Amino acid sequence: MTKNILVMPGDGIGPEIVAEAVKVLEAVKQTFSLDISTDEALVGGSAYDVHGDPLPEVSLEKARAADAILFGSIGGPKWDAIERDKRPERGLLRLRSSLNLFANLRPAILFPQLASASSLKPEIVSGLDILIVRELTGGIYFGQPRGIREENGERVGFNTDVYSESEIRRIGRVAFELAMVRGKKLLSVDKANVLEVTELWKEVITSMAAEYPEVQLSHMYVDNAAMQLVRAPKQFDVIVTGNLFGDILSDEAAMLTGSIGMLPSASLDENRKGLYEPCHGSAPDIAGQGIANPLATILSLSMLLRYSLERADVADAIEKAVERVLEDGLRTADIWTDGCRKVGTAEMGDAVVAALKS
Ligand code: IPM
Ligand code: MG
Repeated sequence: MTKNILVMPGDGIGPEIVAEAVKVLEAVKQTFSLDISTDEALVGGSAYDVHGDPLPEVSLEKARAADAILFGSIGGPKWDAIERDKRPERGLLRLRSSLNLFANLRPAILFPQLASASSLKPEIVSGLDILIVRELTGGIYFGQPRGIREENGERVGFNTDVYSESEIRRIGRVAFELAMVRGKKLLSVDKANVLEVTELWKEVITSMAAEYPEVQLSHMYVDNAAMQLVRAPKQFDVIVTGNLFGDILSDEAAMLTGSIGMLPSASLDENRKGLYEPCHGSAPDIAGQGIANPLATILSLSMLLRYSLERADVADAIEKAVERVLEDGLRTADIWTDGCRKVGTAEMGDAVVAALKS
């Protein structure tokens, strides 16, 4: 049966990096005789410019119909001043929420070839392999009421952090299952000493542990977890947490690898339909220059094949090709060091395709 991938390049460097991932997709379609069709849709600021909406109905419909979505990045200074509901970020948030993409997997893996790119000492990060499981459709990102109102002659801003037991259990299950196929260690991150919503979070996650006797479950307050991530990150295997803490900790974990430009992510629903995007943003400062690193997007395509299309063999081949290219010393500017060959976005994509075919 034909699988349908919707490509959503977005803004900033999005179109450039997604173009390289599409090259890789075309190559594996040929090599592995994959029956995949692709379509494209606007999202973010570029959709706002055309439709006056960062997630127009036509894009949402295509996203609903697709088996998986390959996403670039959204946002940029051009759209910072428009009304809040029309900002590019709202397009992505609505897409996550409309498709029920509640499970966000963000691996932080240190490629051995890039060990020197980390700002931490090599012995602290070498061999690093953490998976952050971030709840993506609840918590303070979506809680009501929210807004900015007038009170006693001044403006007051407010948001609501809210999780139901079923929301916590559903993300907990994903995290426990992933821990089972990895190092069997799960850390749940909360702020249960202050926030009731995370007191409940901790209680529900704890109540699930009996179903997974092989998994070693532990808990940390978010401030301590942020500190431990830079002190001794290799103590972690799988980390599960809510939307806001996950947003922050996943950027921190990404930077441990020295190269946020390398890190993919998956956002999955209950049936493993997913949206796949690089962890980095739209980097408007370098957009259009052909120097952005396309590897996080190429690795996002690899996750797409692994999780939504169940083709681990193809995913492995792409990941091996990326390692080959790094091994050969090719680097985009963000990960370049002395003695390596600096290449642009397209040259990096071409090199991955060549490595796949050789
Ligand atoms: C991320 C981003 C988004 C988020 C923004 C762009 C809305 O930071 O995917 O981590 O906060 O979730
Ligand atoms: Mg973020």
